Amino acid sequence: MLSINDKDLGTPARTAEKLVTIEVDGRAVTVPEGTSVIRAAALADVVIPKLCATDSLEPFGSCRLCLIQIEGRNGYPASCTTPVEAGMKVRTQSEKLTQLRRGVMELYMSDHPLDPFECKAGGKCELHEMARAVGLEQVRYDHGGRNHLDLPADDSNPYFSFDPARCILCSRCIRACDEVQGTFALTIDGRGFNSVMSPGQHLQYIDSECVSCGACVQACPTDALMEKTLIEKGRAERAIVTTCGYCGVGCSFKAEVKGDEVVRMVPNKDGFPNHGHSCVKGRFAWGYATHPDRVKKPMIRKRISDAWTEVSWEEAISYAAAELRRVQDKYGRGSIGGITSSRCTNEEAYLVQKLVRAAFGNNNVDTCARVCHSPTGYGLKTAFGTPAGTQDFDSVASADVIMVIGANPTEGHPVFASIMKRRLRAGARLIVADPRRIELVRMPHIEADYFLQLTPGTNVALFNALAHVVVTEGMVNEKFVAERCDPREYKLWRDCIVNERNSPEAAEQITGVPAEKIRGAARLYAKGPNSAIYYGLGVTEHSQGSTAVLAMANLAMVTGNLGRAGVGVNPLRGQNNVQGSNDVGSFPHELTGYRHVSDPQLRADFEKEWHVTLDPEPGLRIPNMFDAALDGSFKGLYVEGEDIAQSDPNSQHVAAALSAMEIVIVHDIFLNETAKYAHVVLPGSSFLEKNGTFTNAERRISMVRKVLPPLAGKEDWEVTCELAKALGYPMEYRHPAEIMDEIARLTPTFAGVSYAKLERLGSVQWPCNETAPAGTRVMHVGEFVRGKGRFLLTEYVATDERTSQRFPLILTTGRILTQYNVGTQTRRTKNVAWHAEDRLEIHPHDAEQRGVRDGGWVEVSSRAGSIALRAEITERVQPGVVYTTFHHPETGANVVTTENSDWATNCPEYKVTAVQVMPTARRPERVPAGRALQAAK
Ligand code: SF4
Ligand code: SF4
Ligand code: SF4
Ligand code: FES
Repeated sequence: MLSINDKDLGTPARTAEKLVTIEVDGRAVTVPEGTSVIRAAALADVVIPKLCATDSLEPFGSCRLCLIQIEGRNGYPASCTTPVEAGMKVRTQSEKLTQLRRGVMELYMSDHPLDPFECKAGGKCELHEMARAVGLEQVRYDHGGRNHLDLPADDSNPYFSFDPARCILCSRCIRACDEVQGTFALTIDGRGFNSVMSPGQHLQYIDSECVSCGACVQACPTDALMEKTLIEKGRAERAIVTTCGYCGVGCSFKAEVKGDEVVRMVPNKDGFPNHGHSCVKGRFAWGYATHPDRVKKPMIRKRISDAWTEVSWEEAISYAAAELRRVQDKYGRGSIGGITSSRCTNEEAYLVQKLVRAAFGNNNVDTCARVCHSPTGYGLKTAFGTPAGTQDFDSVASADVIMVIGANPTEGHPVFASIMKRRLRAGARLIVADPRRIELVRMPHIEADYFLQLTPGTNVALFNALAHVVVTEGMVNEKFVAERCDPREYKLWRDCIVNERNSPEAAEQITGVPAEKIRGAARLYAKGPNSAIYYGLGVTEHSQGSTAVLAMANLAMVTGNLGRAGVGVNPLRGQNNVQGSNDVGSFPHELTGYRHVSDPQLRADFEKEWHVTLDPEPGLRIPNMFDAALDGSFKGLYVEGEDIAQSDPNSQHVAAALSAMEIVIVHDIFLNETAKYAHVVLPGSSFLEKNGTFTNAERRISMVRKVLPPLAGKEDWEVTCELAKALGYPMEYRHPAEIMDEIARLTPTFAGVSYAKLERLGSVQWPCNETAPAGTRVMHVGEFVRGKGRFLLTEYVATDERTSQRFPLILTTGRILTQYNVGTQTRRTKNVAWHAEDRLEIHPHDAEQRGVRDGGWVEVSSRAGSIALRAEITERVQPGVVYTTFHHPETGANVVTTENSDWATNCPEYKVTAVQVMPTARRPERVPAGRALQAAK
């Protein structure tokens, strides 16, 4: 069902260059060739009744309600399936048309309650609107005949209800599932009168292939498919456009509100990048925002063993500030720092780094991107000059070959996955490189041309071998390389890459991928003509994460796959604002826009704006903060929106480090794992309770708008300002718009960004400045941002984390659709219906060798620690590799991950841990933090 004020134009837009003019009820309208008459009419503000058509789906022509008359033609064609023709004269109203439409509606309503009071949508569904539109007031056939009105409803999905008694079999839901979502979960079951729409034969929604994206609910014109919250709370009074608080796709939503309650979140039809689509998280899993676990009052305690005392905001902030200053007086200016989060808005992250640099007086600020995409920043900046994805998401529609590496888009970036799947169904070729058989490898109407199932930790060897084939088989785009890349570096790289040690045959020994497959994939990628790489944490979270990003950049440059639509090197960012929190200066060595803090002119600009003297020395990275805490030189931390105790590697080490600090300030919406080590808790505000902006993986800056008042009374940016003021450094802003203005003043790539522009354009992709006032969709067109593209040598070096007799398996990790990150939010929603616990995937061969049974408990031990979880025996993983998600704290996946990290950025090597797996009778107790501290000492 449409959101408030959405206009439905009946069929999707067409993009033909040739324009056609027709006349509808005497009004001339000009549209691209191929446009349907119903859409042309709607554009001319002539509404033709319809039921089976909607503008997110291809026309189907089944309901016969949209009939029209065309001058010079016989009959009454359906306007949704009739394309415009030059000079066509269309009539949409006549007595005959009214009679025909009324007859159609009468038949529908003979099997549906006509009384709007019986409508679960309060008579506001399209069916009742159409009944009114055609003037149907009563039905001649009574409901006593054969009908479907007593069919039982399917309430199995936690978020929406399916009532077949209200279904008119228009198939909009089925087409939405097929065309928009690409899951193909729905079908018409049965024949003739007994036909019913169904999520698979005799299946309920919860047991079906359905992934709860909500597209079918959105498409349904009746009250057959409806959100449960809408049924319970009634229709909303207003809608506010905002941005999803979950993943880096950054979908636009309309938050529909009644009083001070959200009724539902509806994907914004006019919003980028989702164009009206959504996934289960953004669409339905927002209930955590009002979960009873929310922290609503500030709290303090002297020692972490003490009970919490609730205090006023003033007391909490002045206590936190006094403690920070006490620690600095005792241990030195560099003894405290701050951590920003990719879940914070740009404005919040900017303020935290400003607080650290200007009020703490050091550069000890880092962000959770350290543990995910920092190699992306390093690699792409080094090679191309900008640490960000090269394309917009829509660019994938122009790709001929799509290479997905170390990413699982259908689980981690579902809305982008739907856009990508559409392109794949339309004929693009697919290469998947992953240690695990992800869903994309084979799914309805999609099959990868090449599935390169490599051993975890061997990405660089694979990328080098792909490049080796390109060069040795004469597939180099010589023109691109000559015009766009540094010739000296290219020559050095070329001489190196042709070496036999980079051949597919050598790579086969390292990666386990047959050489012929590597050759085939390289040829496919090189020939494109438009080939695009999409990658995720399976590339970055390695000891050679930065090398791998550089190796992909080499591959894209040597084949000329940069600087236009359909190509590029594109990181799929995990959290909503990974890109943005990095952009606004969260790294210890960089001010906004990725500019090094050692640059005196740059510092001078900031000093002038901030009225302080800045430290020219880069500060501590997160792992260095932990080490320094255990050394006794780092004693105080302000963490906003990040659960480092759970999300950072080697949890016992993190716990020991946090326990060694004298003041830990946690600013969050829940009492997370890190709060166990905190002395001050400042209640955070959820994405529904504040104003600001997020920047998604395609560099798109979108507005986050306050939908509800903050539960604890303050937006996060206000809290940071108050802490700064208490530290003697006033930060005065009346609204986050002023913070963005400051970022724009100080950052050339943001120079043209303002809230006024975002309001006007909806969103913009940076760089946005004088040369690109409306933003930049595709980067490096004609020339790389840094000038010449850099080919750097990417020698493969095996990780130190080796399997051994004691730890013979490799553990790698990933995520699942219904959960998000460490699960702090999604575990507090009904999404637990699908994923109540993390499981260890193990190959049947490895399971049999160890006596592991499906569903049985296993202990997973590494050199760092051990955890227990239930096993799932599956051939998705290869022998020798086990896999788990990390969404539940009791799993403690990071207890076993080691402290190995990327050579350039310290990004932890989460994706490769040597482990042993053995059956265990029950979940053993995890080492408590106190004991971990003793052990560390
Ligand atoms: S919710 Fe999405 S996946 Fe499930 S049936 Fe509807 S369209 Fe298909
Ligand atoms: S459930 Fe709704 S969209 Fe699906 S066939 Fe029935 S009426 Fe049409
Ligand atoms: S794809 Fe990501 S941004 Fe979009 S709705 Fe899902 S979680 Fe939110
Ligand atoms: S809307 Fe055109 S046939 Fe149904």
